[in-house]
Amino acid sequence: MPDYPVDMEMRPEVEGFFDPASNTISYIVKDPGSDACAIIDSVLDIDYAAGRITYDSADALIDAVTSRGLSLEWIIETHVHADHLSAAPYIQDKLGGKIGTGARIMEVQETFGKIFNEGTEFQRDGSQFDALFEDGDRYEIGGMSAFAISTPGHTPACMVHVIGDAAFAGDTLFMPDGGSARADFPGGDAGELYDSIQKVLALPEAMRLFICHDYGPGGRAIAWETNIGAQREANIHVGGGKTREEFIKFRTERDAQLAMPKLIIPSLQVNMRAGEIPTDETGNPVLKVPVNGL
Ligand SMILES: [Fe+2]
Repeated sequence: MPDYPVDMEMRPEVEGFFDPASNTISYIVKDPGSDACAIIDSVLDIDYAAGRITYDSADALIDAVTSRGLSLEWIIETHVHADHLSAAPYIQDKLGGKIGTGARIMEVQETFGKIFNEGTEFQRDGSQFDALFEDGDRYEIGGMSAFAISTPGHTPACMVHVIGDAAFAGDTLFMPDGGSARADFPGGDAGELYDSIQKVLALPEAMRLFICHDYGPGGRAIAWETNIGAQREANIHVGGGKTREEFIKFRTERDAQLAMPKLIIPSLQVNMRAGEIPTDETGNPVLKVPVNGL
């Protein structure tokens, strides 16, 4: 494991935006010492039955950035989401900033490029993104230094982003009572997910951890902030020293019971293109449904 450059003295201002349609939390992370900020895991609204895309969720993020006079430096995707579309290019059009994701996106593009029978015009080299992060790569948000931790398992390209004393978990961990994300999508692996989670749990106990999805298990109110100590102790899938074997058995049995996310078909096609909607030969935006492909 690389020696990650943790800086618990840096405390970014973090605001979460909850999307009830996909149970996703998007974040604006602001440098306390400047106007610089980043957006993590934005949402593009879709009525899939109608084939209609709208921008309310993305506009809420854009309004929050512009009304405070912030300067958007980064638009981060923790991974290729399977349950919502990314609004990264729409936001970049309005506010600028660089779109960044994990370098292993190329493996995800290879896998789903085949499943969606994409032609040669679909590049599988990650070139749709402005930055591809490797494990331990650093970047700046104003005066803040951030870094990415490679956390494969849910998908190969998953990363946890650490900005000062705040880590953004993506789907690597949910709230302690929510556990972990599934590992059965193409390219997923329960054992790898366990190993990735151990890397995250090795971060400082007091580090804040912001998660990407919450479903309010047991009827509790939606929540998205926890910390590393709480996860080590109480995470229902990995806390309290659960072994790798226990986790793999549990995760595999559980995943076999889960239905596909409602928006997986449109989400993968859009998100593997950094949030761009694919087009047909005449240039019109169009989504495919591969029959028995997933
Ligand atoms: Fe996900």
